[in-house]
Amino acid sequence: MSDIKTVIAPVNIAVIKYWGKRDEELIIPLNDSVSATLDTSVMCAKTSVSASPNFVEDEIWLNGKKESFSNQRLQNCLKEIKQRASVEKSVDNVFLSWKVHICSENNFPTAAGLASSAAGYACLVTALAKLYKVSSDVSSIARLGSGSACRSVYGGFVRWHAGVNPDGSDSVATQIAGSSHWPEMRALILVVGDSKKKISSTIGMKRTADTSELLEYRVQHCVPKRTEQISNAIKERNFAKFAEITMKDSNQFHAVCMDSYPPYVYLTNVSHTIIDLVHKYNEINGEAKIAYTFDAGPNACLYLVENDVPKVLYLIQHIFPSSSNNFVTGLSCNREPLSNEFIKSLSIPVQEKDSIKYVIYTKVGEGPTEIKDGSHLLTTDGTPVKTV
Ligand code: DP6
Repeated sequence: MSDIKTVIAPVNIAVIKYWGKRDEELIIPLNDSVSATLDTSVMCAKTSVSASPNFVEDEIWLNGKKESFSNQRLQNCLKEIKQRASVEKSVDNVFLSWKVHICSENNFPTAAGLASSAAGYACLVTALAKLYKVSSDVSSIARLGSGSACRSVYGGFVRWHAGVNPDGSDSVATQIAGSSHWPEMRALILVVGDSKKKISSTIGMKRTADTSELLEYRVQHCVPKRTEQISNAIKERNFAKFAEITMKDSNQFHAVCMDSYPPYVYLTNVSHTIIDLVHKYNEINGEAKIAYTFDAGPNACLYLVENDVPKVLYLIQHIFPSSSNNFVTGLSCNREPLSNEFIKSLSIPVQEKDSIKYVIYTKVGEGPTEIKDGSHLLTTDGTPVKTV
């Protein structure tokens, strides 16, 4: 006998960045952060989990490859879900003693350096919560897998509260507004080619927390103010305010990377050209129409409203020519040509071909969802259905 649960879960892109932990093991952040959850129809992780008396050991397959189960973060998530189930008495102890099999994949290239661990851990924890019938909030358990994963447990606009408890019990995510609150909000992810080996989030943020004085100022003074301001901008659907705070916070996050000792850098020349382009575009328009934000890599996420997407896509394709027939993926959209005069006034030269590899066009979406059509990634005997 075995029970299989399958869940899909979204990625999220922060507008107030999480960078720095006050507890490394429990993954408790130094500051609150805010993000938008992106539509699972464009990008998602999918995970099947199963428990059975016939399984000999806990096993996991990721993107078609068997991986070791010894990963501490993975073990912490499983242990906590079981603990929660035992407190809630949602399943019996015999069920809790069975081994689990996990099979997970992303529908977007992990190589693109997009927030795959956030979607992956939110998906895993939600699937395990379904398997063990845990009904309470699981964002603090997803957090144990990867900090930013706790925000992918909810749809729409989400705030991760740093909390004050030493055990992290109040370091949880809550929804600021649901996915239909700001229906015009869109995101364009510009995937920038980068051959450099980047410093991981975990290592980067430790170095910054250990060495950056600017981070202390950021945590104490900037983030608390910005978190309140951007929550209000979201509630009021004030795009110009939302955009300004988003860009300032992205810039400050990259500034604290540079303020670390030794410093490290995620942005490339292409990233900086995107930043220039957005500021010039906003300036000519007389208000902020586009907001950029960059995570621990050179890719840009542009937030903007639906009406502006055709013009902005035209502009991106003009400034960043591509040799691909499939340059824009995700939601479908027309291009709206801009006049030569307008483009000239930006004074940004056309860039080398394929500086941007491709663009993902998406919108704000729902949190994790259970898939009930039987398209599991595991068979009833606990082996992966297919390899990718
Ligand atoms: C730049 O959640 O990947 O994307 O908790 O160590 O797993 P760990 O880090 P992770 O960090 C994400 C950092 C960020 C900003 C953000 O998403 O808030």
